[in-house]
Amino acid sequence: MEEFATTLARQETARESGERRGARDVREWLERLDGAGELKRIDAEVDLDQELSAIAYMATQREDAPALLFSRFTEPVEGRVLINMLGASRRRYALALGLAVNSSLSDLIAETRKLLSQRVAPVYVAPESAPVNEIVLKGEDVDLTRLPAPKFWPADGGRYLGTGDITFTRDPSSGRLNAAVYRGMLHGPRRVGLYTSPGKHGGLDRDAWWARGEPCPVVVAYGIDPILFMIGAQVFGAQESELDAAGGLMGEGVQLTRGAVLDLPIPARAEIVIEGTLHEDEREEEGPLGEFTGYYGGARAPQPVIQVKALHMRRNPVLTAALMARYPSCEIGAYYAIMRSARIWESLDQLGVPGIRGVYAHPAAASGWGMAVVSLKQQFAGHVAQVLSLVAQSPAAAYYTKWIIAVDDDVDPTDLNQVLWALSTRCHPSEDIDILRKTWSTGLDPSQFPREARPYGSKALIDACKPHRYLKEFPQSTMVRRDVYERVARRWSELGFTGPAPRLPALHEPE
Ligand SMILES: Cc1cc2nc3c(=O)[nH]c(=O)nc-3n(C[C@H](O)[C@H](O)[C@H](O)COP(=O)(O)O)c2cc1C
Repeated sequence: MEEFATTLARQETARESGERRGARDVREWLERLDGAGELKRIDAEVDLDQELSAIAYMATQREDAPALLFSRFTEPVEGRVLINMLGASRRRYALALGLAVNSSLSDLIAETRKLLSQRVAPVYVAPESAPVNEIVLKGEDVDLTRLPAPKFWPADGGRYLGTGDITFTRDPSSGRLNAAVYRGMLHGPRRVGLYTSPGKHGGLDRDAWWARGEPCPVVVAYGIDPILFMIGAQVFGAQESELDAAGGLMGEGVQLTRGAVLDLPIPARAEIVIEGTLHEDEREEEGPLGEFTGYYGGARAPQPVIQVKALHMRRNPVLTAALMARYPSCEIGAYYAIMRSARIWESLDQLGVPGIRGVYAHPAAASGWGMAVVSLKQQFAGHVAQVLSLVAQSPAAAYYTKWIIAVDDDVDPTDLNQVLWALSTRCHPSEDIDILRKTWSTGLDPSQFPREARPYGSKALIDACKPHRYLKEFPQSTMVRRDVYERVARRWSELGFTGPAPRLPALHEPE
């Protein structure tokens, strides 16, 4: 404990010197949102059964919709619900990471790459000073049905306590702590479902405990700051610490504390935390849930259930709920597109692939899961094929991503208009599309029939670059000559236009 106290003291100093970037918990996040005019408080009484989610869905048809905090419900529950805490808003993404709120998309991706390379280990605080321990209940005293768990969509299998959550499990062999966002359907006062898609680390940890004939200990936090949420939903290597990565983004270690009944830490500043165990012989019908694809994910099926042993919470806790829906209403719209792009780019850099100019996982493509566009300056025969296959299997893109598109360096991958132009003028479908089969995907992908074909997926690697063999002969595209552009840009306001002269994707360079 001594060393944890020292680490904490060091971090207090770091905070005073302004190094901390992220909000440490939901309450600090609410203050930040308020300060930036990014929070709408809804004090009218709403029904947790589909009305709250309908309001959220309708309000978030615009990319710049604010975060929504609901505080009164048609039934007697304890707590509030924060929804759309990130959503499609680039501004809130920047706020969450302490970046300039008016940063361009490319700058946000570049800054995210830098921040993601940093690691700060969690720090432990004493249980008595952990805010989450304001209320601690054990055994029969726990009643999770008193928390404001919404039902989002008409055909959802039930109320979901866990959507904007983080789940901790441990690998029993190595002791590595995994942190991930998994959905949790409420089955009863002390029973919560835990769905893990095949291959996810929480499910692998669970199976490893069961293989030893032991129940799997699990901790889930339901009211968390946006950085824990973001990091929990990113794919990291099996032995990489998501919590160290969260600390790197936050600019200080995530605060953890000892749980009340299990040998697993709990997030000290969360709003609501449960401790419980998963047993091999115990399952309940779970799902479906309206998902990030904009469809109900998978069929109702028996899934493991957490037997809840203890509940920790703050007074009047804030449950963070994540609406999964078509863009721009999906909670992971902006964040996922930016962070995934940064991580794919970083993987290419780490492998030493030259010439990469940008990467973008467009949010409207199933909230950033469906498509990744990479732009490169072609430097050798086979360069494009190398980039396409590496992107397809990089840790951040291997799951789901169906469309991997390479474009030349005169095409901005964040601009769909330019990407469609490249696809339509530089790609010859019969020659330029390769298919990878039996790739890592998910039962949530509605396109595969029969259902038994899931969860394998396939990926199209699309070369929308000028053919390398004919680079010299390839027709020139129409571009403004550089000196003419510069002259016009200088005269922009004289010509009666307001604002800066537009930047162009490419210019005609003099011979
Ligand atoms: C709101 C939300 C809900 C999610 N629900 C699930 C889920 O129920 N099961 C699952 O396997 N992945 C789910 N995910 C995706 C995982 O969080 C993500 O793939 C993460 O990387 C898994 O971590 P892991 O690789 O450590 O298992 C969800 C993501 C979000 C944003």
